[in-house]
Amino acid sequence: MSGEASRPTPTPIDLAQYGVDRLFLAASLENFGEPFKKTLGNLAEEPGYYVWGKEGRGKTYLAAAIFRHWIVSGRASRTRQDYFKRSYVSARWYFVPDLMARIRDTWDKKGASERPIMRELLRAEAVVLDNMTVAHFAPWALERLFTIIDKRYNNGLPTVVTSTLSTVQIAEHDPSLASRLGGWKVIEVRGHDRRLDKES
Ligand SMILES: Nc1ncnc2c1ncn2[C@@H]1O[C@H](COP(=O)(O)OP(=O)(O)OP(=O)(O)O)[C@@H](O)[C@H]1O
Ligand SMILES: [Mg+2]
Repeated sequence: MSGEASRPTPTPIDLAQYGVDRLFLAASLENFGEPFKKTLGNLAEEPGYYVWGKEGRGKTYLAAAIFRHWIVSGRASRTRQDYFKRSYVSARWYFVPDLMARIRDTWDKKGASERPIMRELLRAEAVVLDNMTVAHFAPWALERLFTIIDKRYNNGLPTVVTSTLSTVQIAEHDPSLASRLGGWKVIEVRGHDRRLDKES
């Protein structure tokens, strides 16, 4: 049998399983032109991306496309097994406002702890932190964000962070956080607000 004929059809990846919202389920790097793709560098090796730009420019869409690529290419898998053969989430999409609310919710619940949330973020192979804003720069939130980003940066774990803030603006709040984000590939998404592209 020839290799071509026996090659299995790739299984379509359902990004919804990873926590991606419906609007971005079809996001794929195929929808970007070659010059733009070049600015992303080698997706198999880049440890992380800091994607920033104004509202509606396509940051979340690009993050979803990179995330899809990492999963399809085998760089990350939805679940893995630990030493004790317990399976854990290993690729996950986080909407930062929701993540912060989940962390805060554990504070006043008896017996609840934010540790499992943080542990998942610190060991997952691929993580997207979508929509980080100044609202998450309250001291307690910044402390969590810094821990997540520092550990993921130091361990070379594939990560995409999206924000409307430039690294210079972030440095005004936290130079150490800005330094790590700037250490990843920084991509400014320009253009117009795509939400205003409505068909009449
Ligand atoms: N490359 C693209 N191809 C097709 N549609 C796109 C592309 N980029 C963005 N879109 C669409 O444009 C809209 C806005 O994109 P997106 O939500 O990614 O913007 P954003 O920069 O994350 O905005 P915000 O900062 O407000 O969250 C969405 O409906 C998205 O599906
Ligand atoms: Mg967005």
